[in-house]
Formats: sequence, C-alpha cells, structure tokens
Amino acid sequence: FFKKTFYSALLAGSLATGLGIFTLYKEQHPVALPAAETNNNKKKIVILGSGWAAITLLKSIDTELYSITLVSPRDHFLFTPLLPSAPVGTVALESITESVSTLTRQGNGRVEFIQQEATDVNPESKTVTLGNGTELSYDYLVFSVGAQPNTFGIPGVYENANFLKEASDSISLKNKLKENLQKAAELPAQSAERKKLLSFIVVGGGPTGVETAAELQDYVTEEVGKWNPELAADCKITLIEGLGNILGMFDKKMYTYAQDHLIKNGIDLKLRYMAQKVADNVITVKNADDQSLLDIDFGILVWATGNGTRPITANLMSKLPETQTNRRGLQINKKLELLGAEGSIYALGDCTFHPGFLPTAQVAHQEGEYLAEVFKVKAEIDNTKEQSKIERLQSHIQDFKYDHQGALCYIGDEAAINDVRYGSFKWNFMGHGISFKVWQSAYLVMAISARTKFLIAYDWIKVHLVGRQ
Ligand code: FAD
Ligand code: NAI
Repeated sequence: FFKKTFYSALLAGSLATGLGIFTLYKEQHPVALPAAETNNNKKKIVILGSGWAAITLLKSIDTELYSITLVSPRDHFLFTPLLPSAPVGTVALESITESVSTLTRQGNGRVEFIQQEATDVNPESKTVTLGNGTELSYDYLVFSVGAQPNTFGIPGVYENANFLKEASDSISLKNKLKENLQKAAELPAQSAERKKLLSFIVVGGGPTGVETAAELQDYVTEEVGKWNPELAADCKITLIEGLGNILGMFDKKMYTYAQDHLIKNGIDLKLRYMAQKVADNVITVKNADDQSLLDIDFGILVWATGNGTRPITANLMSKLPETQTNRRGLQINKKLELLGAEGSIYALGDCTFHPGFLPTAQVAHQEGEYLAEVFKVKAEIDNTKEQSKIERLQSHIQDFKYDHQGALCYIGDEAAINDVRYGSFKWNFMGHGISFKVWQSAYLVMAISARTKFLIAYDWIKVHLVGRQ
C-alpha cells in the first residue's frame, strides 16, 4: 500500500511539476503570429487600459474573432492586491507586474498594443484620440481606464503626499523610506528631527491604508528592529480615518478585531480625525467630536482616501449629459453598455459607478470575463444576415451578474481578516495561522500568470528565510 501511495504521489508530483513548467514555458514563449492583417472584415475593438478589467477581457476573449487594439499609458498589468507589500520589499515589484506585450501574445489572434494615453473619445464619430494626436476608429470601445486617487481638493496633498496606486508610487515610497531611515540613523536618538523623519502617516482607513500601515509596521518591527533597535524605537506609524471605524466593508466583529490588532502591534490609530490640509511635513487633522485641530509632523505621508474620476472619464460624461448624470462614475446598463452609447461603448471597472458594486478587482475581473462571452456572441451576430437567427443570438446575451466572493485584508504580523463567500455560504476567518494562509492562497490563485505566482511564493519564502531588503 505504501509503495503504491509513494509511486502515485511521485507521479502526481512529476505531472504537476511538468504541467507547471509547460505553462510557464508557454507564457514565456508565446506562439509567433503573422503580421497584422490590415484589410480584413473583422470588427474593430479598441480597449482602453491595461488593468484588471482590460487584461481579464484580453485573456478571455477569442482574439481571432476581432481586430483588437489595446491602448494604455502603462506597459504592464499591476497586481494591485499585493501593491502595499512592495514598498517594504515583502514582495518585489517585478513579482506583481506582467508585461502587456507578453499578455497580448497569449491568444491565437494578433492584438496591437499602443502605449499611449487616450485623451478624448467621440461617441458620435466612434473615434478615440491618443496623446500623440493619432485618431483610432472603433466598432466597439471598451472603456476601462480605472480611477485616480481622490484628494477631495484638500490643499497640499499632491505636493507632499505619496499615493499607492501605481508601480511608480511603490518605487517612490520605497526610496523615501530608505532615505528617511538613513538620514534619521545619522541623528541623535530621541531627537525631535529624527522622530519627525520617522513619523509615517497613512490617511484613509480603507483596505489600501490599513494594508500599507500594516506592512510599514512589519518592516519596522521585523527589519529595522533587527539591525537598529534604537532606530525602530523612534519610528511611529499613524493611521488616520475620518469615520468611527476602519474597513467599512467588513462587519463590526471583523473591523473591531482589525483595529485592536493594529493598535496591539504599535500603530497609532486615530479614528474620527478628518485630514484638513497638508503643508511641508505637517498635516492638520480635525477631531470630529470636539472640532479641535491637531497638527502632526511627518517624514512620510501616504494618501489612501479612495477613488476619484479621471479627466478622460469626466470628459466622456460631459459628452453624454442626458444620461451620464452621476459624477462618481460612468453609468452603465445591465449588459455593461455605457448609457447614451449603447451598442458601441462598454464601460468596466473602477471608472463606472454602480450602487451594487464596490470598485474592486473582483468586480472588474468578472466584468472582463462577462464581456468576452458577450463578444463571442456578437461576432456571430455580426456575421449573420438572417433576422430570426440574429434575434435568437441576441437573446443569448444574458445580463451581467456579479458574484460576490467576499473580501480579504492583511492587518500585519502575519494576520488577516477574511470574509469568504460561496453562494449563500459565508465564512469569517480572523487572525494568524489559517487566516493568514487563506489570505496568501487566495492571492496566489488570483495572480495573473504562472510567472507571477511563482515569484510571489518565492518572495514570501525568502522573507521567512532571510528577511526583506
Ligand atoms: P485599473 O486596474 O486601475 O486599470 C486602469 C488602466 O487604465 C491602467 O492600465 C491605466 O494605466 C489605464 N489608463 C488610465 N488612464 C488612461 C487613459 N487616459 N487612456 C488609456 N488607458 C488609461 N481589489 C480587490 O478586489 N482586492 C484587493 O485585494 C485589492 N487590493 C488593492 C490594493 C491597492 C493598493 C489598490 C490601489 C487597489 C486594490 N484593489 C483591490 C482595487 C482594484 O485594484 C481595482 O478595483 C481594479 O484595479 C480596477 O480595475 P480597472 O481595470 O477598472 O482599473
Ligand atoms: P476606500 O474608499 O475604501 O477608503 C478610503 C477611506 O478614507 C474611507 O474609510 C474614508 O472614510 C477615509 N477618508 C476619506 N477622506 C478622509 C480624510 N480627509 N481624512 C481621513 N480619512 C478620510 O479607499 P481604498 O482603501 O483606497 O480602496 C479603494 C477601493 O479598492 C475600495 O473599493 C476597496 O474595496 C478596494 N480595495 C480592496 C482591497 C482588498 O480587498 N483587500 C485592498 C485595497 C483596495
């Protein structure tokens, strides 16, 4: 029996390894495709963006059915769920980014990638203008440009704060952290100037702010504390939230657990403090209870107060004033068509506003998968002349239904809160051990490619063995 089990395990292990190597090889060596067919009858799809919605669509769509052009200023896909781990080196930035050129070459058809920002969309002429002045025409436009950090017009934020939205934000935060630690190490312990450099403030108690504060605290405790305990003792991480609790998308038991955990780990959690203005190394916050103002010195300020509308999205809204009446995002119908441009423009992800969906990767991903299915049916419709067949095919296009699978949040010191849903089942896990492993496993499964899955797992093991860099 043992011999049999051993050989079965060996065989299964070899098959899994072989399959893994084959998948990795295929991703790194995509099939060479013929040059772009310029004169074909395929309908033209222009996709704006290279984020969660756009890349999921690209990975799911049959690229042979259409002539597809992807336009984005960003030449990579960014796995945002692990972005807060990157500035402190829990994962490397390379492990959570995947090049668009690799992703566009994975299907059977050719996809053109133009690294440009779209500056204007004209729904009437069905054209998109790019930053370099080029004009692209489309039959179908997929508008998935995401959102930008919201500052609510608070003065001094752009000039003095770091955001955590793009890969470049992680690089600048990492550099600033190293610079401040080095400068502080040269100053006398406990001195006011040193404490100011080592005051790291995060504004916004949503998941971005919480995960960033948690990762900073891990870095201070586990790395700085190891090579310079006096320096670690002078570091202070403050998390500022305007409301009475953090992580509003979780239930009370879970966010209370998270709050207690952050405080226990040394984070100064300031609830009901609203940021008012930011000046050079000082932030002014207002206490919501007694309206008093408090100035707090900082060496690093991370701004994470949620999403705002991008200029191109606001511009598109202004072209459809009858139907686009909500400034929080583009309004769409149940088939993800943009109100006012049904049949030609689809809007997905964070640039849209829907009361039932949070702006999450989970929503954007499911929307991308749904639209790929819609395009499969539409290709058949576009190739059909028979009216009855067209009607039958049209009836196959179901409404988009979002399947909420829960929410996860890392809270530091290898602990997480997980609200996992499957149909009507609901499991809540909080704390260390299994909860942390569930959090890690979920993100390994979600990672975009075999390459990134491998690198993320490798980074986590590396942190355990030799620490962060
Ligand atoms: P994005 O992924 O932001 O992509 C937008 C794309 O459009 C980008 O490629 C951008 O360069 C491009 N673009 C911008 N302007 C233009 C233009 N003018 N023309 C052409 N292209 C343009 N969600 C979860 O579900 N789980 C998580 O754990 C999670 N963690 C997160 C952690 C962080 C730090 C952040 C910031 C977000 C996190 N989210 C998470 C939210 C998730 O990242 C977003 O909901 C998701 O990225 C939205 O996908 P999107 O495609 O709409 O936009
Ligand atoms: P958010 O909108 O979720 O949270 C922003 C927080 O900032 C809110 O709690 C708000 O009350 C607070 N705030 C706003 N203005 C403030 C001010 N002036 N002073 C103090 N506090 C202020 O934003 P976040 O965290 O960037 O997330 C954006 C989206 O991305 C959300 O939909 C979120 O669900 C998703 N996301 C999900 C993650 C996960 O599932 N683990 C991780 C990160 C983001």
